[in-house]
Amino acid sequence: MSESQTIAVLEWGTSKVKVVIAELVDGKNLNVISKSSVDTLMAVKKGDIIDVPKTYGKTRDAISSAESKGSVKIKTVSLAISGTHIKVFKNLGSATISSPDGLVRPEDVERAKEDAKRKILESGRTYIQKISCGFYLDGKFCISPVGKPASKIDAEYLMIHGEDSRILEMSNIIRSAGLEFDDIILSGIASAIAVTSPRQKTDGVLVADIGAGSTDYACIKNGKVVLAGIVPVGGNHVTNDIALGLRLSAKTAESVKISCGKLNLREDEKNKVYWAIGDKQIGDKKILADSVNKIVRSRVIELLEILREEVVELLSEDGIQEVVLTGGAANTEGICDLARDIFSRPCSKGKFPAELPQHLRLQSWATPIGVLEHIRMREQKKSTHKSGLLGTIKNMFF
Ligand SMILES: Nc1ncnc2c1ncn2[C@@H]1O[C@H](COP(=O)(O)OP(=O)(O)OP(=O)(O)O)[C@@H](O)[C@H]1O
Ligand SMILES: [Mg+2]
Repeated sequence: MSESQTIAVLEWGTSKVKVVIAELVDGKNLNVISKSSVDTLMAVKKGDIIDVPKTYGKTRDAISSAESKGSVKIKTVSLAISGTHIKVFKNLGSATISSPDGLVRPEDVERAKEDAKRKILESGRTYIQKISCGFYLDGKFCISPVGKPASKIDAEYLMIHGEDSRILEMSNIIRSAGLEFDDIILSGIASAIAVTSPRQKTDGVLVADIGAGSTDYACIKNGKVVLAGIVPVGGNHVTNDIALGLRLSAKTAESVKISCGKLNLREDEKNKVYWAIGDKQIGDKKILADSVNKIVRSRVIELLEILREEVVELLSEDGIQEVVLTGGAANTEGICDLARDIFSRPCSKGKFPAELPQHLRLQSWATPIGVLEHIRMREQKKSTHKSGLLGTIKNMFF
């Protein structure tokens, strides 16, 4: 008989609180039951919660709506996390190989891993995730070290940490909503999980989720997350630039951005005139396509150049081979062409697995979808552990 478990995912995005509820059947197949989103209305900025009571209210609304749409009650929730307080660093742990034959034993690997993970943070900070990036045998990169000859093994970890008080705040919101935390994952890593194929993960890929307040990114190479982070710039900055530059309200600037903020403007389109509001009444005004293009272009170039700096160590020939964009702002027309020029790599928008329902195959939902997939992989790993088949699953990150 098949067993099913209900899982729920939450993203506190700068523009929307998003919730997805799914059923995990036999620990391996996901059926999405419902989704819901509620406008954040300034309660979250650049991924940081700035108004706790409002965020609590929005969270409750989004969860209740998803529960009633799916006729289901949830008890736990997993969270995609972002925010300016989050920091990431890499850490190496070492162990000498002491076996007489000089071959690496599983115990050596464990000692190197423990050494890498034990680094203590300054007070007021807590680890969110510790992710294995792979190993070095006598300085040479290696994915599966057991049984290989070496005198020393280094384990490399990506250490992700955040401010205690902020994490406590999040935990309190979840608990006040009558729920328990299940899991927590960095938003950029979640988006990367949602849209990359096994080949991309092996060859090397940068996934950048350009949301409203921030750009969450992750680089994956040899099947491992090797770099991740947050750039505190997103689509809202483009909207604000349009509002300031063309003297429009934030609401009008947002709709101008969506309707005519394309980056790949042709020469013959430059002099095209739009009406900002569209009713041609008092208060409406004419705007030139070229003016919008110049504003959007300069902000998006700035964002992509900051991102390039963040991942520069992986832009060598054996680093990342392509760029994938997700998040609502990935819908900006022509953004992939611009990213291709800036990163000198092919660039495309995120492609979702064919099994995912059509209504969820949206760039702005990549993060919660990635959290679902992360939980599916975690549960599959657990059940494989139980049946003693560890090592046969592909695409495992953690
Ligand atoms: N067609 C489009 N063209 C340009 N920008 C768009 C388009 N559609 C949505 N956006 C932008 O995408 C952003 C919202 O994306 P998303 O839902 O991924 O953000 P979020 O998850 O709420 O925020 P964050 O992850 O930054 O906290 C907004 O800035 C919105 O203007
Ligand atoms: Mg987001």
